[in-house]
Amino acid sequence: MIWLGIETSCDDTSIAIVNNGAEILVNLISSQTNIHSLYGGVVPEIASRKHLETINPLIEEALKRGGLSWKDIDAAAVSYGPGLTGSLLVGIAAAKTISALLDIPLVGVNHLPAHIYANFLSDETPELPALALLISGGHTCLAIMKDHCDFQLLGETRDDAVGECFDKAARIMGLPYPGGPEIDKLAKIGNRKAVAFPRPYLKEYPYEFSFSGLKTAVLQYCKKNPDFNINDACASLQEAVSDVLARKTVQALKEYNLKTLLIAGGVACNSRLRERFQEECKKRDAKLFIPPPVLCTDNAAMAACLAHYKHMKGIKSDLSLDAVPGLSWENI
Ligand code: KG4
Ligand code: ZN
Repeated sequence: MIWLGIETSCDDTSIAIVNNGAEILVNLISSQTNIHSLYGGVVPEIASRKHLETINPLIEEALKRGGLSWKDIDAAAVSYGPGLTGSLLVGIAAAKTISALLDIPLVGVNHLPAHIYANFLSDETPELPALALLISGGHTCLAIMKDHCDFQLLGETRDDAVGECFDKAARIMGLPYPGGPEIDKLAKIGNRKAVAFPRPYLKEYPYEFSFSGLKTAVLQYCKKNPDFNINDACASLQEAVSDVLARKTVQALKEYNLKTLLIAGGVACNSRLRERFQEECKKRDAKLFIPPPVLCTDNAAMAACLAHYKHMKGIKSDLSLDAVPGLSWENI
């Protein structure tokens, strides 16, 4: 079954063609980062207008690169939330049009579990049940993936998402948007132990997260130390985040006796986090899956993958599909 996947939930327009939810034939991503970095963050109105300009040529380009024509497409997949309403609507309108004109199934997917499904596009298929950690610019969630399309949410962030923490801390330190990749780069030659940033563990809520205090700690540190070493500050911040994510994830692996860990989301590109999770999983003899960086950040291949598994369970959408900007994890 050849899926055309569409992802427009935030500021990246992405079109993918995926065979049977497993083999990526094409995965194109048109980034708007250069435009939004001028404003220090995503401007929703600009994002939706850019999606509108980009989507049709990108679909044509995807078909061309795949050496396919419209008649080869068997089904359409699209993220319908959470995200920016205007952005989501552009992708949904395109997917509905394709489904209606070609008379093929339409499957709307939740962007959050879709991120986790990027791990099912690797050569080796993860075994279930597994622990799933989503770390992106908008979300930080820990869940048990019991079976396909069946997640039990253990906890989310109470305030800032981990990517948001990196982006805001980077801004405080005078780095461009998005800050996560900049922090990763500068941290490479920094001392992780240079600054003792707090580790917000929330002992009573072991699977919930809170990163807003960490951002405030960076602000206070920069004010007190105007001549701070940026490499040390980035490495220390990255270490504080890694400690928190690693401790909570390992605790959940133990408590629920899980041997597979699936990580996804833009922050999963972070080199220190990748290294740290490799070490932790090796110690516990757990199998770790983290997608290559291009599948960690927003992409349509992950949407097509989840749509395939939903379709196999008989779950489809119809032309009443609408954007749900605050879509929660349970509505897969
Ligand atoms: O998953 P994503 O593309 O979009 C959302 O759905 O939010 O994640 C974007 C986030 C941004 O906050 C960005 O700073 C962060 O991922 N990010 C990183 C790295 N690459 C992207 N954070 C830390 N280290 C990186 N290498
Ligand atoms: Zn995302």
